[in-house]
Amino acid sequence: MGSEIKKEIIISEKELAELSYEEAPKMITSVPGPKAQKVLEDSFEYESMARGAGRYPMVYAEGKGATATDPDGNVFIDMAAGVAVNSVGRCHPRVIKAMQEQMNTLMHAGDMSNVKRTELARKVASVMPPGLRNNCITYFTQSGSAAVETAIKFVRKITGRSQIVAFHGAYHGVWLGGNSLTTGNQYRKGFGPFMPGVIHLPYPYCYRCCFGLKYPSCNLQCAQYADYVLNTPYTGAYDVGAVIIEAQQGESGYVPAPPGFLAMLKKSCEKNGALYISDEVQAGAGRTGKMWCIEHYDVEPDMITWGKGMGSDVPMAGLTMRKDLAAKVDDYSQPNTWAANAMTCAACMTNIDILTENDGALIKRAGELGEEISQQLREGAKDIKFIGDVRGKGLMIGIEMVEDKETRKPLNPDAMGMFMMGLLNRGIISFPCGRYGNVIRFMPPLVLTRKHAAKAVDIFLETVKTI
Ligand SMILES: Cc1ncc(COP(=O)(O)O)c(C=O)c1O
Repeated sequence: MGSEIKKEIIISEKELAELSYEEAPKMITSVPGPKAQKVLEDSFEYESMARGAGRYPMVYAEGKGATATDPDGNVFIDMAAGVAVNSVGRCHPRVIKAMQEQMNTLMHAGDMSNVKRTELARKVASVMPPGLRNNCITYFTQSGSAAVETAIKFVRKITGRSQIVAFHGAYHGVWLGGNSLTTGNQYRKGFGPFMPGVIHLPYPYCYRCCFGLKYPSCNLQCAQYADYVLNTPYTGAYDVGAVIIEAQQGESGYVPAPPGFLAMLKKSCEKNGALYISDEVQAGAGRTGKMWCIEHYDVEPDMITWGKGMGSDVPMAGLTMRKDLAAKVDDYSQPNTWAANAMTCAACMTNIDILTENDGALIKRAGELGEEISQQLREGAKDIKFIGDVRGKGLMIGIEMVEDKETRKPLNPDAMGMFMMGLLNRGIISFPCGRYGNVIRFMPPLVLTRKHAAKAVDIFLETVKTI
């Protein structure tokens, strides 16, 4: 038989353009305009400002693809996607159709079986990375925090061990278990004491290596240190059930693990007898150019926590674990009233279809487009002293802002605040992250057009010059 020639599937920019407001960005007022201001005043009076956005003055009115409007009629390019959530774009017509059809049939079924939920569990199993693919069981939740919380509980039961290893810079949610793994001061200060048995190790943040070394001549000192802690007596790691890690950290500054680190870590887990959990809540669902970020690293996880982009416009998350592990968790031990509502299942199934159809063309495009944007930013950054680093995989791009490239001193909060407002007033929605709050993340919907991407980069570079 002759070898089959694979036809490259190209997603047309025209097709994608129809999903968004083409005219974006288009600014009519400064932000917040008078109508948005009124909403914000009510919001500050009636809503808890402990929410993720705090007092960030963007008010959404309508969303379409990779664009959105506010109540004053301003049209924005959305480089934030609701914090890496809207993978297939806001209000995707196919998702709306699937939800509408499901709405007329069945929505809530509690934690009972329902046709859509089981269909979704089967579909999730088919898109898992090697090691889990079609050899896994899913526990559905409505948030990433709940998925992590469930993982912690199940790990104890499965392994009979109680310690969990997490990493500096980690964000695994803000419920008590996950919050004990999460390291950001603002989520912890005054909220303790936390869950006992958590060990935090250095994450390979190469731009600011805590060992003062450089990759690759460092010989992955951080992985060697993790191995030492996990596999040496008297380090306190005597009862580790699992190691949980983001293959590319989100909250702490969009920091991808360098090649080799995760494979070494997996080996250390195996020697210790600990499970390996890949937290893919932010980096999963195609954002990095592969369905799961861990697939860039050739590591087979024992469990995956997922959420955000899998739901896209609806709350949908879960914990997916190997079948043999799931068999060790008792029936009825983790009920969840709102899990996998039939309507959110219908939406999630459509999202997975859109992401994976045509041999995963949209996901591959995310990888390529992300690389194009990163290159343009790196090129533009050459003569701008405030851009210290541009990094990340696919459409999970972190731009680390500094006072000076040489000293790498993080850009101060006042300048960052003014810069973020500068972007917003020019029609770009984006959020900062990072240990020092000085990393701007580009995490747009995967359907962002190249035209909008180029505009976002131009506006970004133009705004940096105003600092
Ligand atoms: C890696 C990671 N894990 C867990 C979570 C928690 O997810 P959620 O906000 O849906 O509870 C997040 C949220 O940003 C995350 O980025």
